[in-house]
Amino acid sequence: MPGGEPCGTPAAAGATPRPARTPARGSPGTRPAFGIGRRPWMGRSPGIVTKDLRFLRVLEQVDRLAPTPIPVLIEGESGTGKELVARRLHEKSGRAARPFLAVNCAALCETLAESELFGHAAGAFTGALRERKGLFEETAGGTLFLDEIGDLSSAIQAKLLRVLQEGVVHRVGENLPRAVRFRLVAATHRNLREERRSGRFREDLFFRIHVVRLKLPPLRERGGDIPLLVGRFLPELALSFAKPVAGIEEGALRLLERYGWPGNVRELENELKRAVALVEPGGWIDREHLSETIRDGYQETAAEPATLQEKLERLERAEILQVLDRTGGNKTRAARELGLSRQGLKNKLARYGIEGPDDSPGETVAGEEGGSGHALPR
Ligand SMILES: Nc1ncnc2c1ncn2[C@@H]1O[C@H](COP(=O)(O)OP(=O)(O)OP(=O)(O)O)[C@@H](O)[C@H]1O
Ligand SMILES: [Mg+2]
Repeated sequence: MPGGEPCGTPAAAGATPRPARTPARGSPGTRPAFGIGRRPWMGRSPGIVTKDLRFLRVLEQVDRLAPTPIPVLIEGESGTGKELVARRLHEKSGRAARPFLAVNCAALCETLAESELFGHAAGAFTGALRERKGLFEETAGGTLFLDEIGDLSSAIQAKLLRVLQEGVVHRVGENLPRAVRFRLVAATHRNLREERRSGRFREDLFFRIHVVRLKLPPLRERGGDIPLLVGRFLPELALSFAKPVAGIEEGALRLLERYGWPGNVRELENELKRAVALVEPGGWIDREHLSETIRDGYQETAAEPATLQEKLERLERAEILQVLDRTGGNKTRAARELGLSRQGLKNKLARYGIEGPDDSPGETVAGEEGGSGHALPR
């Protein structure tokens, strides 16, 4: 596919796994949440890291759906891992040797969208000097990932529906039907049901692509994933910045756990990039290396309005984290301070996915074969 389009350039699959190695240990005497030098990181594959039950259930479904040809719709807020899940659907299908083509429909200019998706004949419009295949043809039996499908114009929605119904495309400026074979995976951060109800998304197309819907939970509801993701990203970032980092301090990790993450995993990754850039070589990431929004413990809320119950739960979670932070992770003291029994506190920690420092964080990681992520021991 020729690149350099002003919009909607598809990305070919196959991000190369980044190798990781063990950076130097930090200075003794600090109180770390975990260090990144305690385990070898060589050769970990960049799979999906989670211990959240809802996410793990989604991944089970992904693995079952992957070998089938049925279309899948992935819903989730920005940065929740929709593209990662789409790639996994491709990698675990029988089509892995064929292309995975991704296109962001929101960035596809109306004027170019048709030619981008369906191709064009030579001379079909000014500037179309040579004939060109569209993405449907380029996919050639692989997976076509239509990201932000909810942003397609109604004209393109109608054309897409025809391709799905008839299994053929007509290049712009050509009458010849060309058979296409592809597995469709679509994603959106919107609620497509709502879009359909309000008439912004075609009902017939909705039912075509809505055969299976996978909903990815936002990061703020997967508190237990934060230490796992930090354990994944820190060594990778240290390596790519060629800067040894000892690890992250307990207090800083607590702040990350308390924050609301409206931009989800991508925002967490960016925050860690910033921290790795700011920390002194070989040092521990501390509160001072985190951005102000996170240090203030400012709870940015979800894109969708929360119910009273959700708001109360978020407050309760934040309060528990704060008290645990104050008591240095001592659960007996924290329970006393919160007016709970030790078991009562433990139940709440389990419910909110909070790991105590004396708990083993476990390694329930869904990803590539053989396990793909590690939380480091605290
Ligand atoms: N569970 C996860 N484990 C490891 N990395 C993750 C996970 N979820 C997301 N990421 C990383 O976070 C970033 C965002 O993920 P991805 O692009 O898949 O999200 P998205 O839902 O498609 O976001 P957007 O809606 O903004 O396109 C990527 O760098 C991805 O590798
Ligand atoms: Mg995406």
